[in-house]
Amino acid sequence: MHVPSLISRKRDRGSLSPDEINWLVTGLTNGEIPDYQWAALAMAICLNGMSATETWALTRAMRDSGEVLDWGPPNSRPPVVDKHSTGGIGDKTSLVLAPLLAADGLWVPMISGRGLGITGGTLDKLESIPGFRINLSRPEMEAQIHSVGCFMAGQSPSFCPADRKLYALRDVTGTVPSIPLITSSIMSKKLAEGLDRLVLDVKFGSGAFMKSREDAAQLADALVAAGNLGNISIAAILSPMDEPLGTSAGNALEVRECIELMHGLGPPDLESLILDLAAALSPTPRATHAARLRDGTVWNRFKAMVAAQCPHKDPDLLGIGRTLHVAPVITDLPSPGSGILTRADAATIGQAVLALGAGRSRADDSIDPTVGIDHLRKTGTPVKAGDALCRIHARSQADAATAASTLATAFSIA
Ligand code: URA
Repeated sequence: MHVPSLISRKRDRGSLSPDEINWLVTGLTNGEIPDYQWAALAMAICLNGMSATETWALTRAMRDSGEVLDWGPPNSRPPVVDKHSTGGIGDKTSLVLAPLLAADGLWVPMISGRGLGITGGTLDKLESIPGFRINLSRPEMEAQIHSVGCFMAGQSPSFCPADRKLYALRDVTGTVPSIPLITSSIMSKKLAEGLDRLVLDVKFGSGAFMKSREDAAQLADALVAAGNLGNISIAAILSPMDEPLGTSAGNALEVRECIELMHGLGPPDLESLILDLAAALSPTPRATHAARLRDGTVWNRFKAMVAAQCPHKDPDLLGIGRTLHVAPVITDLPSPGSGILTRADAATIGQAVLALGAGRSRADDSIDPTVGIDHLRKTGTPVKAGDALCRIHARSQADAATAASTLATAFSIA
């Protein structure tokens, strides 16, 4: 096969066969096809799209570029399930959903990512728990699935290496926003987890990748089609991301909020989305899942997961955000007027939280677990002039002042 001819065919809106796609992905993984040729191909795909057959061939080739987890025959074990969110501000559902599903008797092998840009990442949040290990070996994953029912880990180098390479290339060549490339990237990783069932949380709105509900629905359809071809049971929920989920954004602050939720003290929007996602994966009544969030069942499972992934230290959980990871400056953002809060713009709040040091602009940036916002007031609620719209956690007075001036533009009161 001749790479320039395949690139040219895609440039001219032709299609690639599954064998050609396999060969191109093998060449990407083993380095025989140079990055510049794959970058050109990614741009041709980004501009001209791919058919469902091509998208599935790309997804399967990327899944099979590395190890695929295998949990044994379905009749010998519980159903293996997971969820994937396309990312948003304050989206911390995974931290609660994994132990909730494990407490329901399901197996949840959650392989998560880091935050990039304004969207946070599950691994960064988890690492605010002292000693939490996100690098688990395959035997450790297997042992923990049997003992706890869930784990939350990072992607090992042998897991979907083609996606790792292609995502890095897309990130620097303007080729991230492409439905076939996003679909194959997300679904190759989820299918490599060896799942029986997957629920997708496809977000739309100012703080999401997809700005409109229509675009989110299109992405959801493509993801569901790939899941069907991969022989898993798959459902998609479309959820709004015009304001942050819950009342906090920032790593330790979000872990704190999850701990409160697992004590029955969570914000209703966060709890409701977690229960919706659980309902798509488990036949257990919603009220039973809700009761388990209040009676300590989910909290105990979360602690078991943390204990399993912090083998050499005593994980300090209740201190997070209270005595541990407390930012030097904590200050309220006062409301400029009275009325009903009509807007708490997720994208602007995400930018402010990123600038405070909670996120990354580049993959190798370091993050500060202490910073962010909490006590965020939700839209639709009444406010009086001077009431706090949110609380800012910053490394310095100057950072807090910069965040306050950005955040002031995120809120509207009518
Ligand atoms: N998340 C992924 O894993 N891949 C994409 O392409 C976009 C979001």
